[in-house]
Amino acid sequence: MFVSCHLMRIRVEVSQPRRYEPYSDAEASRLIEEERSQQGPLIPIFHRLQERFGYIDDRAIEPIAETLNISRAEVFGVLSFYSDFRRSPSSATSVRICRAEACQSVGGAALLSHAENVLGVGCGEETNDGKVRLEQVFCLGNCALSPAVMVEERLIGLVTPARFDEIIASIRGSE
Ligand code: FES
Repeated sequence: MFVSCHLMRIRVEVSQPRRYEPYSDAEASRLIEEERSQQGPLIPIFHRLQERFGYIDDRAIEPIAETLNISRAEVFGVLSFYSDFRRSPSSATSVRICRAEACQSVGGAALLSHAENVLGVGCGEETNDGKVRLEQVFCLGNCALSPAVMVEERLIGLVTPARFDEIIASIRGSE
């Protein structure tokens, strides 16, 4: 009963794709300013920009470099290193599969293989229909309910291959 209800809740939640604001230099500068005083501010800045716009626009690289007094190459290098950060706008729904230890011990690797087979893509890639972007992540803080998956900002636990298929069907049927 619980599982059934939980699945129904998942269907409702993932059927509402997240909408982002169009990129704006002014808003990007404001977010950069807000994060600049953090210790190690680069990653928090990237997160804020991606949360707001859905990706990190190339136009943000120069103001980030100037604000943090580092080179544009350094900003670009860090940005390129992390596959979590998108470099272009996309309407694809982000589906992140946890690959850390607790999830791996209860089928996380098999779940990822299943996801790659079902979607026909590898980690960091979007499906041909542009609806799903498959990503990996290392611990979502939901180890007690492993294997864990995050769909955009929504955390889903106890994800079997069958439940994964339900989630993908919900995403694909939501537009
Ligand atoms: S190891 Fe997967 S949520 Fe922690």
